[in-house]
Amino acid sequence: MPRAIISPSVLASDFGQLSAECKRMIKNGAEWLHMDVMDGHFVPNITMGAPILACVSKTVPGIFMDCHMMVAQPEKWVNDIADAGGSLYCFHLEATAEPLALIDAIHARNMKAGVAISPDTPSTAITDEIAEAADMLLVMTVYPGRGGQKFIERCVPKVAELRARFPDKDIEVDGGVGPKTIGVCADAGSNVIVAGTAVFGAENPAEVIAILKSTVDA
Ligand code: DX5
Ligand code: ZN
Repeated sequence: MPRAIISPSVLASDFGQLSAECKRMIKNGAEWLHMDVMDGHFVPNITMGAPILACVSKTVPGIFMDCHMMVAQPEKWVNDIADAGGSLYCFHLEATAEPLALIDAIHARNMKAGVAISPDTPSTAITDEIAEAADMLLVMTVYPGRGGQKFIERCVPKVAELRARFPDKDIEVDGGVGPKTIGVCADAGSNVIVAGTAVFGAENPAEVIAILKSTVDA
């Protein structure tokens, strides 16, 4: 299994201090920052888009922006997110009819490509061809749309199914993940860990990040 990567979700941060919040998490041991882009169509909420990400990448040198695109037309934003400094562009499989073409378009802009599945989408929706073309698979452990929700344990077997099929692929979990739920995620084989509330809400984020990391790498 690939090594642990911790990607704090900035949705739980103080948006008024976004760059400082990202820098604080990098100092506390985060490798990636998880940027939740919501468009009010694929999900009911609106969060942030390329203009805000561009400000973050300009003010946080070397940041790896793990962009989780909860948008209805993921094809539409590839260029804008690439221009804004996005490092990984993760789209929802439910939102596109042409995942392979989209992965090519993401790679053409020198970003890594991620494919996300919501709780009701089976792991088999990710075909071998899609998984082999993608750099990362994201198994949502809450319904996309907002932070601070309860972890949905019945999503975890999908991680194990994907890990069995793709031993070397980065597999991310997102939603309600923290010290109490990391054990089952790590056992199932996820190595890229998104945590919003659990990290940003902690008194000692470095400690939480270290727990998440060591549980995956154990
Ligand atoms: C949910 C987002 C998640 C969420 C994670 O739609 O994709 O990234 O912000 O936040 P927590 O860890 O608080 O569930
Ligand atoms: Zn997310």
